[in-house]
Amino acid sequence: MVSSLTGSTKGVFDECSNAEVISRPEVPKWCVFRLDKPNMPRPIQATIHSGALRHNLARARSAAPDARVWAIVKANAYGHGIERAFEGLRGADGFALLDLNEAERVRALGWRGPILLLEGVFEQRDLELCSRLDLWHTVHCTEQIDMLATHKTNAPHRVFLKMNSGMNRLGFQPDQYRAAWTRLNALPQVDEISLMTHFSDADGPKGVGEQMRVFEAAAEDLPGERTVCNSAATLRHMADAGAPGHGQASPAKASDWVRPGIAVYGSAPDFPEGSIDSWALQPAMTLAAKIIAVQAISVGASVGYGSSFVADGPMRIGVVACGYADGYPRLCPTGTPVLIDGVRARTVGRVSMDMITVDLTPVPQAGMGSEVTLWGRAANGTVLSIDEPARAAGTVGYELMCALALRVPVVVAE
Ligand SMILES: Cc1ncc(COP(=O)(O)O)c(C=O)c1O
Repeated sequence: MVSSLTGSTKGVFDECSNAEVISRPEVPKWCVFRLDKPNMPRPIQATIHSGALRHNLARARSAAPDARVWAIVKANAYGHGIERAFEGLRGADGFALLDLNEAERVRALGWRGPILLLEGVFEQRDLELCSRLDLWHTVHCTEQIDMLATHKTNAPHRVFLKMNSGMNRLGFQPDQYRAAWTRLNALPQVDEISLMTHFSDADGPKGVGEQMRVFEAAAEDLPGERTVCNSAATLRHMADAGAPGHGQASPAKASDWVRPGIAVYGSAPDFPEGSIDSWALQPAMTLAAKIIAVQAISVGASVGYGSSFVADGPMRIGVVACGYADGYPRLCPTGTPVLIDGVRARTVGRVSMDMITVDLTPVPQAGMGSEVTLWGRAANGTVLSIDEPARAAGTVGYELMCALALRVPVVVAE
């Protein structure tokens, strides 16, 4: 399954070319790459870069050298596909996710190491799967302890007791945390208890200091491994260790495990303050499509629905086989950066369901069949971070990668 997805590392479309078809002179070269495919999909493709996943995982490790690393693979590995991302992420110490089906998929890939359910179980029978697949699970509420207390198992479970240290989503209030720990500790169904919280502001000016103080005060003296850091905390706050004022409340001291997600996929958790360049991350997903039509327009001509873009001089417009039904945000305005044959250019006009339109001015040689990188790495190595179109659309890289549409063919490359 995984190996059949593996493709070329050159241009993202190269692995689809077919020498026999290329040799037919009546077939324009730009459309050859799909002609050997039985279902003739459109010239759009996503590529998952195993090498980038490996690199980013190593970056997280180097930011937290004393910690073990969970690779967060929830939401189908942030849209990359669990099976596709596995090759690049198998060096992690564990996989953390929240969907039991996804946990089964990770086990089906042959992974025998730790798997953590970040939201724990949703109903009693989920515990049977935890026993069967040896899943570690978060316990964030009294109801989950009640379920454990009546669960029949020969193998006691490892649990991660979650504290609500200020985010007010999941977890026990600090003043109820110790009682929850004591109750769990008394259950024969429970083996080891680890301590966990999640930061609301690791990527912003508020930081993690206050939540760390709450966590450490309420968890003080409780035994067990600790895990607190997502990507932003791992990259930005591990160095807080020893800084004046942090003392015991340093995330580094509570990092037996770190939990990086977005950084592993090559998006900066704190863009635009930080960037993939400043954090030395590499894009793990490229979305690229081809130009399927060119229009030469003159001053005053408009482009696309709503005529939102009007040319202020003669220009060439490239029509790209990618639209919002592929996962490219409709909210991206005129001026959103793209790479055309690896050269930085911009979109013009509205994103439509199946197409976007780009300004070919900076790339005069571009035309039918030219490759347009919507995010990721172009064939010439130039990178456009997913953070840029995400920001142009008023959102974050997380949302774009998770929203890659099912209709987009995906290959895995080194
Ligand atoms: C509990 C928990 N840990 C870690 C992460 C990873 O966060 P990020 O992708 O920002 O690194 C998430 C993601 O939302 C999460 O919910």
